[in-house]
Amino acid sequence: MSILPKISRRTFGVLAGLGLAVFGGIQFIRPEIGNPPVTAEIAVPKEVKEVLVESCYDCHSNETKLPWYDKVAPALWLVANDVKKGREHLNFSEIGKLPAPQQAGALWESLNQVRLGAMPPKNYLTIHPRAKMTAEKVRVLRGYLEAMPATKPAVPEQVTAADEQYRKWAANQAPRPAVAREPNGIEFPADYRNWKVIGSSERFDNHTMRQILGNEIAIKAVKEGNINPWPDGAILAKVAWDQQLDGQGITRSGAFKQVEFMLKDSRKYASTEGWGWGRWLGTELKPYGKDATLSQSCISCHEPVRNRDFVFTLPILGQH
Ligand code: HEC
Ligand code: HEC
Repeated sequence: MSILPKISRRTFGVLAGLGLAVFGGIQFIRPEIGNPPVTAEIAVPKEVKEVLVESCYDCHSNETKLPWYDKVAPALWLVANDVKKGREHLNFSEIGKLPAPQQAGALWESLNQVRLGAMPPKNYLTIHPRAKMTAEKVRVLRGYLEAMPATKPAVPEQVTAADEQYRKWAANQAPRPAVAREPNGIEFPADYRNWKVIGSSERFDNHTMRQILGNEIAIKAVKEGNINPWPDGAILAKVAWDQQLDGQGITRSGAFKQVEFMLKDSRKYASTEGWGWGRWLGTELKPYGKDATLSQSCISCHEPVRNRDFVFTLPILGQH
């Protein structure tokens, strides 16, 4: 016997009609995904460009090509948001105007994101399987980067300036502004600068500095190998420094860019996979989120490492 309540054909017709009307109605809510002119496309060999076009250009260029099913709301709304944000972070149609080492830096960063399974985003791949970064595509991108001439040493003053900022930061002498909480309620863990490093994300190029720090509970968990899942109370921080270019066109770490946190509490943060998510930008530590949905953007990118409790970094055990 059917478990569905019996509905008359007439009711069904009315409901179906309503559904169609709503579906039809929302089609009029259409965010604009225009393609602005390509001003300075990244200059790479043809085979590298093909890889980027097929896997990344929908969100990281001014040549977005959406298939018809992406042009139907509500799919359109999701895609429009990805394209907008993707272009903000990295736009292959515009980065050609940057000095060559900086372009290479962006490609190294891209390779890193791909290798970690963060790009292209998983939800996008399920409906755009052609965009998958196959082993062959990764080989093309990596081969191109590895064949580049090694970088020259940087100008001493630049090194000193960046080192000085870093030293101040590490010594807790950087200014401490009053920090607002994220719209999802996460408070800024102000003492993070005293935490221990559990790993630097592996960088192929060493051009950006990213450190992963852990609070005491996290460090203890690392020592005990108790990190899947991480225990409640553990907090992980990722600190990122900008890239800057010195007089010789060498990219090195520059100003403080952002710090982001994952705070473990399996009950309090049950609705966001057991972690609280927060990111603060620049030396003024401005909360990143516009509203409480900010956690979702973090989770969707950390999704590939769900089976490692959403943590990318593999801490080196027994080191502390
Ligand atoms: C469906 C859209 C989409 C596709 C396709 C896509 N990205 Fe992204 N990408 C994004 C979004 C959105 C962000 C910004 C994430 C955020 O909010 O922090 C991003 C961020 C990045 C970043 C910057 C990460 C950071 O921390 O600043 C890099 C690098 C990147 N993507 C590389 C790639 C590469 C390489 C490809 C192709 C192999 C690719 N992406 C494909 C949407 C996409
Ligand atoms: C574009 C994909 C992407 C998005 C979006 C993203 N992350 Fe991450 N995150 C990464 C990757 C990749 C790493 C691994 C370290 C690295 O390479 O930088 C990482 C590492 C981290 C770490 C260190 C622990 C670990 O997993 O290794 C924290 C903390 C973190 N992210 C917090 C956040 C927060 C908070 C947000 C949302 C505001 C966020 N992330 C959004 C890709 C992303």
